Amino acid sequence: MSLIFMRVSGVLILLVFSNFVNALWPLPQNWTKGTSLLRVYPSIIIKYDPSLLNSYIDQLIESAKHRLQVFLLDEKHLSPNVKFQIPEDEKFDSILTLSCIQIEITDNNKRDQDDLEETNIDWTYNKEMKEGISLGTDESYELIIPDKKEDDTELVAYLKAPTVYGILHGLTTFSQLLYYNRSEENSGLFLPFAPHHINDFPKFMHRGLLLDTSRNFYPVKEILKTLDVMSWNKMNVFHWHIVDATSWPVVSEKYPELSEKGAYDSKKMIYTKRDIRIVDEYARTRGIRIIPEFDMPGHTHAIAASMPEIMTCIDMYPDWDQYSSDPPSGQLNPAIPETYTFLNELVPEIASYFTDKFYHTGGDEVNLNCWESLAQQNDHTKESLLEKFVTSLYSIIANEGKTPITWHEMVTEHNLELPKDTVVQVWRNSAMVKKVVEKGYKVVTGSGDYWYLDCGYGGWYGNNIKGRSWCDPYKTWQKIYSYNPIEGLSDEEAKFVIGGEVLLWSEQSDSTNYEQQLWPRSSAAAEILWSGPEDINGNRRVPDKDALKRLNDWRFRMVERGVRAEPLQPLWCVRTGRCDM
Ligand SMILES: *[C@@H]1O[C@H](CO)[C@@H](O)[C@H](O)[C@H]1NC(C)=O
Ligand SMILES: *[C@@H]1O[C@H](CO)[C@@H](O)[C@H](O)[C@H]1NC(C)=O
Repeated sequence: MSLIFMRVSGVLILLVFSNFVNALWPLPQNWTKGTSLLRVYPSIIIKYDPSLLNSYIDQLIESAKHRLQVFLLDEKHLSPNVKFQIPEDEKFDSILTLSCIQIEITDNNKRDQDDLEETNIDWTYNKEMKEGISLGTDESYELIIPDKKEDDTELVAYLKAPTVYGILHGLTTFSQLLYYNRSEENSGLFLPFAPHHINDFPKFMHRGLLLDTSRNFYPVKEILKTLDVMSWNKMNVFHWHIVDATSWPVVSEKYPELSEKGAYDSKKMIYTKRDIRIVDEYARTRGIRIIPEFDMPGHTHAIAASMPEIMTCIDMYPDWDQYSSDPPSGQLNPAIPETYTFLNELVPEIASYFTDKFYHTGGDEVNLNCWESLAQQNDHTKESLLEKFVTSLYSIIANEGKTPITWHEMVTEHNLELPKDTVVQVWRNSAMVKKVVEKGYKVVTGSGDYWYLDCGYGGWYGNNIKGRSWCDPYKTWQKIYSYNPIEGLSDEEAKFVIGGEVLLWSEQSDSTNYEQQLWPRSSAAAEILWSGPEDINGNRRVPDKDALKRLNDWRFRMVERGVRAEPLQPLWCVRTGRCDM
């Protein structure tokens, strides 16, 4: 446990509390706490002045309040390893009740003029959305929970933040401070270790999770559930790898045949515009941005089902590996005008389904062999065909007012000059981060050597008893936690790393097993991204006893909340801490 932030120190206290853990996850930047016990009832009042807020922000707070109330009513988290004593009989009556949380938004409390003219909110464009979360939104907050009060007043906690997104995080933190106790007479919710003073903010502004919904399909309700769990882990980007070579589940109004022929089931295994808007809205209500990825020009075999005329090297068999990183092969044809007509029609449409300013263009594993003969016929080089494709795609995206994100090969392998605001996402290995930074691009990291959640499950090509994942071995929570996104970078270079993502590619995942694969390992990355790879004293975070105890408590709380997060240890170890070396 961390002694640095203990407000109360001294030998006796340390002995008494050495079994207790700081059970917040991710750990706040600065947290001081004490030794008092408070009582909390589900009727606790969450107070703020809605007349200071525009209706969108008011809506966000109301919905966060509601979610907290559900926890207060339903969550009975009996921690396996966080212990506190409840005083007996008469002394019990002296426990103070926390009766109110007073919320204050300090910067963003101006009521929008136009807000006064009540508009019909429609799915297509909600004016107030412009104030929604975006890259770099201030997510900091301060939470003060006292353990003393003036006579005759109520005990009030204060939650202050510059924006509503800090408030959401503060309420999330508050929910993690509550523990249930089912002792005979006095069962209920308690808030131990008061007073608490928490000053918190994220180290990285992009804290993401990638889910691939093409290799295998996920129903919308699973995505919504994932968004909830992400928000409890203070993650703020859902990178929706929505299409790939194997299936095209997105319903386009301009090209309905894409999903009619390219989805696994054109009625059931699809995402309509309405589905996407629901996911987008649900995410933003929780302070999460949705970044869609329409991977191009590689990984597009699914388009061939309806539009083979704009594709090349479709489903080469059995030597697909000459043309593609994995089966089935197929790449868009960059040499014919029909392909650009397609992009010009499709991309603005599908980009408009999502609110966020960023649009992920994909761009990984382009196989230039596939374009060999095209290049010869058209008197081009393969690289110039790629450049033509990328330039055209990026200008469409810019015309939509969006900023492109790309996988790193575009700059590390193909050496393309991209617009300088392009964000480059590193996947192959962590050494790429420095290479991309040196070229002057912003980086999102999370690579096969640390943050891939699908490694170590064996091969999936069939009939290969030695089959392995390319990124073996399985990434344990310890491995994930040990990653430093800015390893080996100077302070100046580190500024280019805007954050990272954990990634679940779904060759061997779907709704039956993905939750166990995501949680609690994604929480390990979430803490590195929020709390940072170093603590307040500049010490590198390591997957030590303290982290393990907190993660165990957090994992059990997530399970209590209905998440099938996998166990990290035998329960005996969790309870006793005796396996934590
Ligand atoms: C942490 O918070 C405490 C209490 O608010 C404060 O006294 C202390 O200076 C803070 N430490 C740092 C490093 O900000
Ligand atoms: C509940 O309270 C009792 C009495 O103080 C205590 O012995 C027990 O350990 C508590 N349970 C938990 C889970 O903290």
